[in-house]
Amino acid sequence: VFHPQHILVTGGAGFIGANFVHWVARNEPSVHVTVIDALTYAGKRENLDGIDADRLTFVHGDICDAALVESLITGSSPENTLPPIDAIIHFAAESHNDNSILDAAPFLRTNIDGTYVLLEVARRHNLRFHHISTDEVYGDLALDEPRKFTELSPYKPSSPYSASKAASDHLVRAWHRTYGVRATISNCSNNYGPYQHVEKFIPRQITNILAGIRPKLYGQGLAVRDWISVEDHCSAIWTILTRGRIGETYLVGSNGEHSNIDVLRMILERMGQPADAFDHVNDRPGGDKRYAIDATKLMTELGWQPRYTDFAQGLDDTIAWYAAHRDWWEPDKNATEEKYRLQGH
Ligand code: NAD
Ligand code: DAU
Repeated sequence: VFHPQHILVTGGAGFIGANFVHWVARNEPSVHVTVIDALTYAGKRENLDGIDADRLTFVHGDICDAALVESLITGSSPENTLPPIDAIIHFAAESHNDNSILDAAPFLRTNIDGTYVLLEVARRHNLRFHHISTDEVYGDLALDEPRKFTELSPYKPSSPYSASKAASDHLVRAWHRTYGVRATISNCSNNYGPYQHVEKFIPRQITNILAGIRPKLYGQGLAVRDWISVEDHCSAIWTILTRGRIGETYLVGSNGEHSNIDVLRMILERMGQPADAFDHVNDRPGGDKRYAIDATKLMTELGWQPRYTDFAQGLDDTIAWYAAHRDWWEPDKNATEEKYRLQGH
């Protein structure tokens, strides 16, 4: 078992990264966290509000800046009394498929070049490295086949985003095999929960309704996503970081398959809207049909279990969060909807 004392969390001001930092603050009180985040459109410093200042160091910076990342590891200042950083937990990424279709350049830079910079730092300083990745690297499944993704599924990414994440996974595997970097990878399915940007499916529909805009369904809404509470993803990451076998990949999911139309209907019903109060909009070019995760390896090898498997309850909690945090999402709403309007979404 690995007992980290001081972890470097990249992308810790984004959706999953911020939830993970809060998770660590609640569950692992002896661990210090340094966050590096570029605060792109997707990151907010306030996502980390409420965490004790003596448990968290926040650095506003870019993971592609090798000198900056190196300086965080060597911690040159004499008044630095923190234990040295012993692990990198790598969340930072451009994460939205639709954006990657408009302009892939920032995806190649952050997701590929950024991962390379971090791997080189991990190699030089012999740091434990955990890479957060996605089930999208495996492409998609047919709607009607019983098969799910496993750790042995072939890489077959569909979008510029998922291709860039697949590339980053390959770099991590190569740095483990060639240089012995103590790396693990997790590939997770679709997360939901607080702090998720309003560009993503569930927050977009909830905040549309709260803002008096009709929800928008791509195509007929038959695509299936395998939804997992972000809390369960966080506990899985901690499990793999501390007890995962070096060099291994673990899939993370909690049997949450639902079609988009079913999720939208659940949201409409829970928010007191008629079942047909939404618009059909352009489908995503090359959009993946279905994702489904077989998490047997993580559950049997490492004993991980999801706790938040009641999806209807999870949606209720998420709706309540967005209703109570208008100040958090309203500043992003108009620009996001305008960008979608231009894409016919
Ligand atoms: P997000 O877009 O909400 O957050 C990304 C964060 O990274 C932001 O805070 C942003 O400011 C930061 N960032 C972007 N470029 C950076 C750079 N060059 N340097 C430093 N920081 C930078 O994304 P998310 O949904 O929280 O996803 C986090 C990770 O989890 C990603 O690697 C993503 O591929 C992976 N993932 C996401 C899901 C999901 O359902 N959202 C599922 C599986 C895996
Ligand atoms: O599977 C993990 C992936 O899940 C992560 O790697 C990505 O970072 C994350 O963004 C997510 O990707 P998706 O493309 O599955 O998520 P998104 O929320 O963009 O869309 C989910 C589905 O809903 C997809 O079939 C498109 C559809 N959709 C999306 C939006 C924004 C709609 O029908 N309407 C919408 O308004």
